[in-house]
Amino acid sequence: MNEIVSCSVIDNIAVVRIDNPPVNAMDRAVRAGLNKTFSELKNRSDIAAVVLACAGRTFVAGADIKEFDTGIRAPSFHEVLQLIEDSPRPVVAAVHGTALGAGTELALACHYRVAQQDARFGLPELSLGIIPGAGGTQRLPRLIPLDRALDMMLSGKPLPAATARELGLADALAAGDVVEGAIAFTRDLIARGADPRRTREQPVKNAEKADAILQEKRAQIAKTMRNRKSPLALLEAVKAATELPFADGLKVESEQSRRLVQAPEARALRHLFFAEREVRKIPAVSSDEKARPVSRVGIVGAGTMGGGIAMCFANANIPVTIVDAAQANLDRGLATIRKNYERSVTRGSLKPDQFEQRMALITPTLDFSALASADLVIEAVFENMALKKDIFGKLDGVARPGAILGTNTSTLDIDEIAAVTRRPQDVIGLHFFSPANVMPLLEIVQARQTAPDVLMTAMDVAKQIKKTGVVAKVCYGFIGNRMMDPYAREAEHCLLEGATPEQVDSALEEFGMAMGILAVFDMAGVDIGHLTRVARKHLLPDDPTFYRCSAMLTECGWLGQKTGRGFYRYDNADRKRTPDPETVEMFWAEGKRLGAARRTPDRQEIQERCFYAMVNEGARLLEEGIALRASDIDVVYTSGYGFPRYHGGPMFYADTIGLKVIRDRILEFGRTFDRQYWTPAPLLELLARNESTFDKWDASRRA
Ligand code: COA
Repeated sequence: MNEIVSCSVIDNIAVVRIDNPPVNAMDRAVRAGLNKTFSELKNRSDIAAVVLACAGRTFVAGADIKEFDTGIRAPSFHEVLQLIEDSPRPVVAAVHGTALGAGTELALACHYRVAQQDARFGLPELSLGIIPGAGGTQRLPRLIPLDRALDMMLSGKPLPAATARELGLADALAAGDVVEGAIAFTRDLIARGADPRRTREQPVKNAEKADAILQEKRAQIAKTMRNRKSPLALLEAVKAATELPFADGLKVESEQSRRLVQAPEARALRHLFFAEREVRKIPAVSSDEKARPVSRVGIVGAGTMGGGIAMCFANANIPVTIVDAAQANLDRGLATIRKNYERSVTRGSLKPDQFEQRMALITPTLDFSALASADLVIEAVFENMALKKDIFGKLDGVARPGAILGTNTSTLDIDEIAAVTRRPQDVIGLHFFSPANVMPLLEIVQARQTAPDVLMTAMDVAKQIKKTGVVAKVCYGFIGNRMMDPYAREAEHCLLEGATPEQVDSALEEFGMAMGILAVFDMAGVDIGHLTRVARKHLLPDDPTFYRCSAMLTECGWLGQKTGRGFYRYDNADRKRTPDPETVEMFWAEGKRLGAARRTPDRQEIQERCFYAMVNEGARLLEEGIALRASDIDVVYTSGYGFPRYHGGPMFYADTIGLKVIRDRILEFGRTFDRQYWTPAPLLELLARNESTFDKWDASRRA
């Protein structure tokens, strides 16, 4: 086995190498190895300088995130980084891949940095609810301008090597092998007799403008990072860098860090970090299963969804053919795609030649047989079973043997769709979220007969088009929409009791949802959900209050933003919602007629009813095996439904509240409201009784 930290000598240069796969996380073993090596190097007079590099695919990609839960054991990050910075001879970091978190902080503690041309430097700690805690908040603004340092830490977005070089974070770029480049750079340092250049001894850049810069960032945080604690803690630590000597600033950083690391926000975000990687592990797929190659894709339907999906593939450099039954639809669809790309060019996120390349990858046609060469066809037409069956029948006749047939249905029974083909093993659900080219989630729905290699291919495709693929089984609404159903049902019921749409939505938004559900309905079209419910009437509860408000609005033709009026009014050109006393009155009167208690639920009750109903449904999905893991549900909700990441997803949030508390509240709601909705799911009941959590339930099934 390779040593985790090794040292070799080339002439008079020591090359220290970290080798801790997969991503060289700076765990205790790495810190101990660096401590030992740099302690020894300190006393070696035959060494003129040190190069610090990493083996494998990347420079250190951060602290070991698991260690935040168990506690950081000695030697500490500070001890190791100070030892490196104290080195009496120059230390040069040779950075390749992504230096992230503690990796960037390690590079900052070195005296010079040489970066491979495609390397990147990032401090993504806020995405984990913490701040750089190994001196990053103090050292970074001593190397690059204060406002850029704050941007880098607030956005978490890594800086490309070239920008790092321009700003002064990297001293040189290496075109070829980074270690060779760093050795050449170091030889030059030695020849020039250069001394160690310690970052901590540099002044903070733009310190004189600190007040104005910090004030601007504070305003930005209030607007875009609502309810978050870590961004404000970051500002405190950086402010200390501008006002205090390095050692004192470091103490402020440590205090802020310590406070954050076990706080709910950081625990929730750590949970999601691992949950987003866990989704890729599918027990039904053995490790020797091979994915089918996908190099040409077909799409049926040139509407908003079809167009968005086509863009996902063109963005990944995969040619796409879009088929539609009407030329006008194709023209409209292509024009929308073009407009979307043009917007990206205007914003600067796409170069004009890339725009042309992507458009050239998309072929519109009326000819269904053009799909014959596709490896994967995705149907994205209107949500109507008869239409979808018709299309799958045709696809069965046209598609080549072994091609994967995907449906973008959000609710329909995929087994029923698969049954019209002679190849149900090749049929799968690929549920994209609107706008498909933007939203990161892809629900991958495994139908009864879907073959394991088809499932695996879908996971691969998700990765190729940069989506988070989460596997679900067939049921109405799969994971996401099925859990939305009870959540929105409660929101609407509150209106019959006397709450206003504004009260309901602001309770949900204060919790952290990107948008209240009633405003979402107005945006999507109130009639959309209503018509699906009409089509499934025989399967729904025999309850006149069930989604009554949506039904009334549809009957009035008040369908939301598209008609200027729905749960709210949209009179102004900016489409801002304003209260509508007439609908409020209408809902109250209907509630009275239907015998709903007049009681105006407060903010806490609205939140509890909506989210606990959602969690209870989540527990049912787990019992039924529709979702593989509670953590998968959390990924679906945070990446596709605007659930706040800092609560970790609905199931993790439930764990933090305590499942017994939730079970008891559900029983209480059952005494006040309709018991058919308020009975704890058996799994919730079981876990509550055992004082367990969804997280432990996941872990017990992994074991
Ligand atoms: N600590 C612990 N484990 C880590 C880790 C870290 N900092 N970074 C990655 N891993 C693990 C992942 O959980 C995954 O484990 P698994 O294979 O058992 O699921 C494995 O390393 C590979 O990571 P993955 O993200 O799947 O690889 P990738 O090539 O897609 O991406 C990175 C590589 C480095 C870009 C990505 O892992 C990353 O962003 N890591 C976190 C960086 C970070 O936030 N650092 C700051 C910490 S303070």
